[in-house]
Amino acid sequence: MIDRARTAARKGGYKNVEFRLGEIENLPVADACVDAVISNCVINLSPDKGRVFREAFRALKAGGRLLISDVVLSGELPPQVRDDLEQWAACVSGALPETEYLQLMREAGFSEVSVLARTDAGGQAGLPIRSLQVLAVKG
Ligand SMILES: C[S@@+](CC[C@H](N)C(=O)[O-])C[C@H]1O[C@@H](n2cnc3c(N)ncnc32)[C@H](O)[C@@H]1O
Repeated sequence: MIDRARTAARKGGYKNVEFRLGEIENLPVADACVDAVISNCVINLSPDKGRVFREAFRALKAGGRLLISDVVLSGELPPQVRDDLEQWAACVSGALPETEYLQLMREAGFSEVSVLARTDAGGQAGLPIRSLQVLAVKG
């Protein structure tokens, strides 16, 4: 993935981009050095979402923004789905209830946490999951 990204950047002539391999619980960047953190459908996969938000907070400069799109729960999952690791890998059973998810962001230090959009993502299975877009600011 990193190789493909580097190749694409080289082909496109983009000289102001850099790709680093890392984990969202241990971002490969120094403290307070980035303006924005973006993430699409990754945090639900982490077993320690609080740590992910603390890492984003650590990496951001003061005034930096965190913009996330992720899967959260809007109700309780059936036990057979909740306990299924394949459903975790499918971005379902690792999801937290929305209120808990937003609370972890606040506990990490983010002062302004705003939900920009909520979309039902339960599909035909009728699972209580939704796609959430959230903007948070390191005040
Ligand atoms: C559903 S895909 C989303 C990929 C991409 N963000 C997108 O929007 O197309 C989830 C990705 O998260 C990565 N991932 C899962 N756990 C991770 C972690 N702890 N740290 C970094 N990446 C992780 C997986 O390897 C996978 O590429």
